[in-house]
Amino acid sequence: MKIGIIGSGNMGRSLGILWAEQGHEVFFGARTAEKGEAVAASAGHQTQGGSNDAAAMFGEVLLYTARGVNPTEVFSSISVLDSKILIDCNNQEIPENFAYPAITQSLVEKLAAEAPKARVVKAFNTMAQELFELAPDPLKDYNVSVFVAGDDEAAKQTVMQLAAEIGFQPIDCGELRHARLIEGTGDFIRLLMIQQEMGSTAAISVHTLPFAQTQRLGGRQPSALK
Ligand SMILES: NC(=O)c1ccc[n+]([C@@H]2O[C@H](COP(=O)([O-])OP(=O)(O)OC[C@H]3O[C@@H](n4cnc5c(N)ncnc54)[C@H](OP(=O)(O)O)[C@@H]3O)[C@@H](O)[C@H]2O)c1
Repeated sequence: MKIGIIGSGNMGRSLGILWAEQGHEVFFGARTAEKGEAVAASAGHQTQGGSNDAAAMFGEVLLYTARGVNPTEVFSSISVLDSKILIDCNNQEIPENFAYPAITQSLVEKLAAEAPKARVVKAFNTMAQELFELAPDPLKDYNVSVFVAGDDEAAKQTVMQLAAEIGFQPIDCGELRHARLIEGTGDFIRLLMIQQEMGSTAAISVHTLPFAQTQRLGGRQPSALK
């Protein structure tokens, strides 16, 4: 698969290298072509680098790492995103004292409104970049969840596959608007990592456990609660 990285900082560089290690063709984009080229040169794995425009034209799948930046400021024409799978891994800036406002529109819904012809998917925002160093081994032994939401089913399945290939456990979270919850989860894990000092390898794993063989607690009774 051809993958374009939009913004080759910590997230872009790490995920780009991981996907290149899996045999994908990766193009690192940046605000200056020189930076994109330099990231590709140090990444190896036959990756290429250049401008964000060039990365967007190259990729079938794009990773968008420019938090809160309208794509009209990133690309010379928004049409470079038409029909592309656009992964948004962004989280809001951490406010003072972790006093997060309620999320009524997620960053990715805003991005989807700004790039209406892109196939936008939310993913990779609920773990720290440091965790990627463990991918795919031994990461795959820890069942770390990647929450994936999007309105384009095929795009979502592609992103889930890309997550699984590098050792994560992808979880289909349904429609794009559910990203409000996923972004809130990204805020929550950073609260644990930073304020509660669990560190950057704190990770979220969702498991489905088997049902108990007995119902000694009486089982689930009808409830009047809505
Ligand atoms: N780091 C983590 O552990 C982590 C984990 C999960 C989610 N995230 C989220 O992922 C996003 C990226 O984080 P990061 O750690 O990769 O940050 P970063 O290292 O600072 O990289 C951010 C990238 O954004 C690009 N950028 C910034 N302003 C821009 C602008 N005005 N126009 C175009 N491009 C611009 C930069 O591109 P250039 O390459 O051109 O300089 C840079 O590569 C953030 O929203 C963050 O919350 C981060």
